[in-house]
Amino acid sequence: MHMTNSKTGFHNHKGVMYVDDVSLSDIAREYGTPSYVYSASVIREQYNVLEGALACALPKKKKHLLCYACKANSNIAILKLLRNLGCGLEIVSEGELVRGLKAGFKGNKIISTSFGKSSDEIRACLEADILQFNVEAEAELEMINAIAGQMGKIARVAFRLNPDIVGGGHSKISTGRKEDKFGNTAAKILVLYKRAVEEMEHVTPVGISMHIGSQISQADTFRPGFEQIAEVTEDLRAQGFEITHLDIGGGFPIVYDNEDILDLDEYAGWVKDFIVPLDVHIQMEPGRYMVGNAGILLSQVRYIKTTPSGKFMVLDAGMNDLVRPAMYGAYHEIRPIQNSGRTTTSNYDVVGPVCESGDLFAKGRECQDVEAGDLVALMSAGAYGFSMASNYNSRPLPVEILVDGDNVAVINKPQGIEDIMVRESIPSWL
Ligand code: LLP
Repeated sequence: MHMTNSKTGFHNHKGVMYVDDVSLSDIAREYGTPSYVYSASVIREQYNVLEGALACALPKKKKHLLCYACKANSNIAILKLLRNLGCGLEIVSEGELVRGLKAGFKGNKIISTSFGKSSDEIRACLEADILQFNVEAEAELEMINAIAGQMGKIARVAFRLNPDIVGGGHSKISTGRKEDKFGNTAAKILVLYKRAVEEMEHVTPVGISMHIGSQISQADTFRPGFEQIAEVTEDLRAQGFEITHLDIGGGFPIVYDNEDILDLDEYAGWVKDFIVPLDVHIQMEPGRYMVGNAGILLSQVRYIKTTPSGKFMVLDAGMNDLVRPAMYGAYHEIRPIQNSGRTTTSNYDVVGPVCESGDLFAKGRECQDVEAGDLVALMSAGAYGFSMASNYNSRPLPVEILVDGDNVAVINKPQGIEDIMVRESIPSWL
């Protein structure tokens, strides 16, 4: 691989886009496209920036815990990288638990926030002795108590609050409005706390959790949620209940376009004003922030198709590889990997090969002219990219590659076509 040696992350060097010391055209040549490429140094930097902002504002004596929400990107190499930095883990399924354990996370740094927890998952979490179950519903609480009873264990539980707040960059990722399925009212939390303490021997309530949405760009959005968490905490304490842990969620944004992003110091300031005085262990669940800007989807232009209504840039990546534009109308910057020297631009509809008109990464996007065979990067695809990819149209999942300085590793082999069908069978009576 061709080396430079200076910059980290995604940058241009002599007209070619690099990740750390490695040229993306070399990566495409060696591993093919479409491919997800991640920068370890960007992940480290994101973790350190967030940790740094929080460390300045929050007390040292009760160290806060960042639990990486691994739904954003659950590759076990990425998990290992974050674990090595001292991060905790937030999981939403038994699969994510297994990934976390494989990456070396200890149970005492794992929080489960899953919705509609299954009994197998609860059992596996108790087996791993996880730090905390964030409980979504009374039925979940009863199940956790019953299973913990069968296993002779005690589960630490927190109750998720629904503060009825609109937060997040898109309606589908806003999770704290009263019409959303998530969380409980303050009144319900009181009932649950009381039941847990008075009637259930195998759960110990430790606190409250909240997550109001994703890609939240204004620190102000968090403030009413923090106020409510503080109020509920005080009410519960006034009734004699113990609150030792508050999980204040994730939702930290990244840059996709040129949007304003959250002022972390202002955010940390609200935490300091509303949560710190409660003298609790503070937990947070950032997902996108840790990995979003650390990854790209590298793709090759198959051809340009011109129709009476416009020019289509047809990529080898499709909505099955990166579903965010089709699903949320999300913006991803599209950058050519190599400076072709062409000075003209066109407005392209950037599409994939999937048989749906919704397989559209960008509509009428102005871009330097490209030709068949050129490489482009769909930027900021490290979060909710591969983790939401599918085999739609029987397209194999793309390869995932991690770069760290001049180290390059395949951290997930490309799927083969036969791999897609490996669990299928044709019944004998057909
Ligand atoms: N905690 C809970 C309980 C969550 O539901 C989520 C995300 C997070 C933490 C992490 O949120 P983050 O820090 O990443 O914003 N697929 C969508 C995003 C869905 C987010 C779901 N929950 C997208 O591609 O934008």
